[in-house]
Amino acid sequence: MTTVLAIETSCDETAVAIVNNRKVCSSIVASQIPVHQQYGGVVPEVASRQHLETINVAIAQALKQAQLDWGQIDAIAATCAPGLVGALLVGLTAAKTLAMVHNKPFLGVHHLEGHIYATYLSESSLNPPFLSLLVSGGHTSLIFVKDCGNYETLGQTRDDAAGEAFDKVARLLKLGYPGGPVIDKLAQQGNPQAFALPEGKVSLPGGGFHRYDASFSGLKTAVLRLVQQLEKDGGQVPVADVAASFQETVARSLTKRAIACALDYGLDTIAIGGGVAANSGLRKNLQAAAVKHNLRVLFPPLKFCTDNAAMIGCAAADHLSHGHTSPLTLGVESRLALTQVMKLYHPLE
Ligand code: KG4
Ligand code: ZN
Repeated sequence: MTTVLAIETSCDETAVAIVNNRKVCSSIVASQIPVHQQYGGVVPEVASRQHLETINVAIAQALKQAQLDWGQIDAIAATCAPGLVGALLVGLTAAKTLAMVHNKPFLGVHHLEGHIYATYLSESSLNPPFLSLLVSGGHTSLIFVKDCGNYETLGQTRDDAAGEAFDKVARLLKLGYPGGPVIDKLAQQGNPQAFALPEGKVSLPGGGFHRYDASFSGLKTAVLRLVQQLEKDGGQVPVADVAASFQETVARSLTKRAIACALDYGLDTIAIGGGVAANSGLRKNLQAAAVKHNLRVLFPPLKFCTDNAAMIGCAAADHLSHGHTSPLTLGVESRLALTQVMKLYHPLE
């Protein structure tokens, strides 16, 4: 059994967790959302400063909540890519320092691999192969999970990520930041069939459409045009109906692509990860389609959908059990494809 203390600071949550393989011993998430709300989005420099101010307290709280001391920790891990460079640096530097001081193995973790591992925290018997639908603020992709560190990207967005689309649509509806949770709540009171919106098909050069790729930037523009037209017509914008129609379109688009991908590749399980996995419309759509096609869909509990360090610890523990550790010279990378994740570890002898 491996006990890992993990740190996640890639964006606007300062998170520290202690994980024993797939079991969470403690999980601290200090959200910066109220700080960034006044700017309508995440301000990178403010995020780094907030991480610096919070990280040591969060580490102490994680140890206290787990009732463990440093002697009982086997390894230290931190998210090192992708994300905001200044924000990532805070967590990575803290983890490397702790690993050095306490003489423990150190592991850098890919943020999106963490989102895949979030499913293991509630489904401890799950093992590859399976399909992962990753839907966060910065990424939207369909990943064939083959093994620890072995991934193939089968589909992705050609422009905006699903979470980004939620955030942008919320901004144009003047609903504040982050957009996903507000739209989700408002959509419950609206009619999802009120407005027909484009689902974001991606044309292929030889004709037809890509089966797995999506585009959300056209959908966002369609919502903007719709709102402008409604305002021009002089009536009140039915915000709940617009939110519900937008959410339904995103959910339908993601569901269609995930189901097609799972069936084409003969994968019987779809695990969802990332902040948008918390979305009630997506959950409902995907569950219903999965039942129809005899597939299994797994959603992490809400607290492990959005950014947290437990998922990072879970990924690190698995890498460690495969003999993977990272050099203390490892740096941060704002962009790193999931397929490149083994770059983070020492080559095995
Ligand atoms: O995974 P995450 O916490 O951070 C990134 O790695 O990006 O995802 C954050 C994204 C934001 O865009 C937020 O609006 C979206 O997830 N989100 C949601 C919901 N909760 C968070 N989107 C739709 N419905 C939700 N309930
Ligand atoms: Zn994330």
